[in-house]
Amino acid sequence: MALRLDDKFVKPFITDEEISAIAPEIEAAAASLRAKTGKGAEMLGWLDLPENYDKEEFARIKAAAEKIKKTCDVFIVIGIGGSYLGSRAVIEFLRSPRYNLLKKDTPDIYFSGCNISGSDLDELLAICEGRDVCINVISKSGTTTEPAVAFRYFRAWLENKYGKEGAKERIFVTTDKARGTLKSFSTDAGYETFVVPDDVGGRFSVLSAVGLLPIAVSGINLDELMSGAADAMTALSAGDVYTNDAYKYAALRNILYRKGKVTEILVGYEPYEQMFCEWWKQLYGESEGKDGKGLYPSSVIFSTDLHSLGQYVQSGLRTIFETVLSVETPDSEAKVPNDPANIDGLNFLSGMPMAEVNRTAMNGTLLAHVDGEVPNIVLRLAERSARALGYMIYFFELACAVSGYVLDVNPFDQPGVEAYKKNMFALLGKPGYEEMTAELRARL
Ligand code: PA5
Repeated sequence: MALRLDDKFVKPFITDEEISAIAPEIEAAAASLRAKTGKGAEMLGWLDLPENYDKEEFARIKAAAEKIKKTCDVFIVIGIGGSYLGSRAVIEFLRSPRYNLLKKDTPDIYFSGCNISGSDLDELLAICEGRDVCINVISKSGTTTEPAVAFRYFRAWLENKYGKEGAKERIFVTTDKARGTLKSFSTDAGYETFVVPDDVGGRFSVLSAVGLLPIAVSGINLDELMSGAADAMTALSAGDVYTNDAYKYAALRNILYRKGKVTEILVGYEPYEQMFCEWWKQLYGESEGKDGKGLYPSSVIFSTDLHSLGQYVQSGLRTIFETVLSVETPDSEAKVPNDPANIDGLNFLSGMPMAEVNRTAMNGTLLAHVDGEVPNIVLRLAERSARALGYMIYFFELACAVSGYVLDVNPFDQPGVEAYKKNMFALLGKPGYEEMTAELRARL
């Protein structure tokens, strides 16, 4: 199994009775998920996506990625939220957070349309100067402001450089199958399009064309990623809180939540896990934070953040627990060098693999945080590989859905995101929002 839940460091904080008490709730949540009778049941396409995906489109994604690799130096992925976090997480996890600086035979990849920053756009457009560029605009609705504005910029830039016909070969669009203006606009313009399945929401879409095209452009093996997810789909398809680690994770975090541990911190020990943490935060935050409920998802990368947030975790407000991602097989042979002068007194570490020092930092931190009343769930990932990562993605998606049902929320909608959008549109003077405009402006 690619991922294993180790509950040794959470056991001091929960009782066997608490686990057996929540077991029927987990069972009921899992049953309604499988029977598709729970909240948001029309959005469960991700549940069997690792096997039941469009094979023809999958082949087209691979072909488009090859074309992009051949024809461009820079690939711009335009999207926000679930439309970019998954691919960025996978690329950084498997290739590098410094992917663009690597010596490689794949294009540089930049993410745009995930903010409203003019300086970010200026910078990216300057980076593109003198280089061959392709773009992938990803928006299920096709009307999200941030990516729509970025798309305007990059479309104009491409048409200016290559002409309308040339630009057409460099614009790839991932959107709703039939509905929405982006689909009809793209079809009319002759862009190649890929589909965000109707029954898969943004934050559950990394294993659809949304994530797969950018991931393939970065040179990652899609078959391996999907196989790992399919392994998880099979391994986690049955069982209970004692035998199914996704159900156990959902159970543990809900038990802790009910005992006042309302903040969950996802902890990585490798910088390449940082964007994965961002993906996880969106998955859990947007799925569970509603109706006045939900665990607050946060993240840190240790040991870096042991020198910033570590103090708070050790002895601040006791409302937190940690979920630690431990990659079990080192992929680096780096060792601590010997220093004949031993000026730092660290020669007792000379020759020791960095991976061992890092593991020891993790073990020391686990013990310290448990002593500081912070429960720790440890998720042990076998290795840093596409297959293992595919497994972990599916694990978290499944656990999130079950956990959301136990919280009695709809894990598949995001009504709260609309509030800022409405206010922003009203304040910007969008036609149709006139009634709100004056009232909101008066409050500023
Ligand atoms: O998870 C979600 O559904 C959201 O985060 C969306 O992905 C995000 O709001 C972008 O939406 P769209 O793809 O419609 O532009």
